[in-house]
Amino acid sequence: MRLLVLGGTKFLGRAAVEEALARGHEVTLFNRGQTNPELFPEAEKLRGDRDGDLSAMEGREWDAVIDPSGYVPRVVRAGAELLRRSVGHYVFVSSGSVYAEPYVPGYDETAPTVELEDPASEEVLRDYGALKAACEEVVREIFPDAHTNVRAGLIVGPHDGSGRFTYWPLRASLGGDVLAPSPPQRLTQFIDVRDLGAWMVSACERGVSGTFNATGEPMTLGSVLEACGISQPAWVDEAFLLEQGVGPWMELPLWLPAADEAFLQMTVAKAVAAGLSFRPLEETVRDTLAWARETGAELVTENQYGTAGLDPAREAELLEAWRRHSVTLAR
Ligand SMILES: NC(=O)c1ccc[n+]([C@@H]2O[C@H](COP(=O)([O-])OP(=O)(O)OC[C@H]3O[C@@H](n4cnc5c(N)ncnc54)[C@H](OP(=O)(O)O)[C@@H]3O)[C@@H](O)[C@H]2O)c1
Repeated sequence: MRLLVLGGTKFLGRAAVEEALARGHEVTLFNRGQTNPELFPEAEKLRGDRDGDLSAMEGREWDAVIDPSGYVPRVVRAGAELLRRSVGHYVFVSSGSVYAEPYVPGYDETAPTVELEDPASEEVLRDYGALKAACEEVVREIFPDAHTNVRAGLIVGPHDGSGRFTYWPLRASLGGDVLAPSPPQRLTQFIDVRDLGAWMVSACERGVSGTFNATGEPMTLGSVLEACGISQPAWVDEAFLLEQGVGPWMELPLWLPAADEAFLQMTVAKAVAAGLSFRPLEETVRDTLAWARETGAELVTENQYGTAGLDPAREAELLEAWRRHSVTLAR
């Protein structure tokens, strides 16, 4: 298969490219050459900016395109229109953030999505979900019978610069008392980047068409921490953590408070029926930790989403405060 990837050198696109090359496909990367340009010497590289200079893709043909770098409908439209007659299938990386609140446990692809208040908005940080939903519409319109809109949940694993999962394997490796948000049975949900990348390549190979939730099956936080090697965390009440101003999701990763936790319970039955499969969690943990150590990834990381991870000094203070609080309650 001749596969075009719009991007392909950071995280999810990178995993898809690795998989496509391993399967013997002919891969072309289109990007600006700014992010890890040394990767994939065996792939063809076309240079350009998808916001304004698409000329390097003109007059070329591919069997499929994977688009992990589309955030703004105007930009996605320009690329999709150029590729309309020269590409057989379009895989667009969207997000579970397209769904509107309130989330209902087990929600599927028919659940309501958010809409842009201002259709001209290009404020990606503010309107991320609504912009992704609008990008999906563009792809559906231009490739009506040959598109895969991939509504990804949290993506984790090696090369994840966000720190939103890596925190736990790294924290486990440091030992000591590990603060965790109770109860242990709370559900969380994510997917190994390599499983999602592989499924997107398969979607291209098989022309899997439609809109798909694409993340892992929900798992209890207790079982995830156990797989990370944290068998007896110090479970601290969610209400206490919120009172102390601990930030869910970012400061204490994989945790969403009860009011929002249904967000982490999307059903992935449709994608699983279309071939999405999952490696064992232990493999994800092991490889993420190995990557984090190799690259010197920090427990607390600054990234485009904010700061991820609980600072160890704050964790110790919180644990002490929780113990005092529990003693007071017991009296
Ligand atoms: N992380 C999560 O948990 C999560 C959850 C849900 C959905 N998602 C979605 O998953 C996707 C993640 O993708 P990724 O960043 O890992 O993909 P990637 O394809 O590995 O990396 C982004 C690529 O886009 C290229 N790029 C950026 N701006 C460009 C431009 N103006 N013109 C051409 N190329 C450009 C970059 O190269 P250059 O800089 O060299 O141009 C880079 O190769 C995103 O769509 C995100 O919204 C992520």
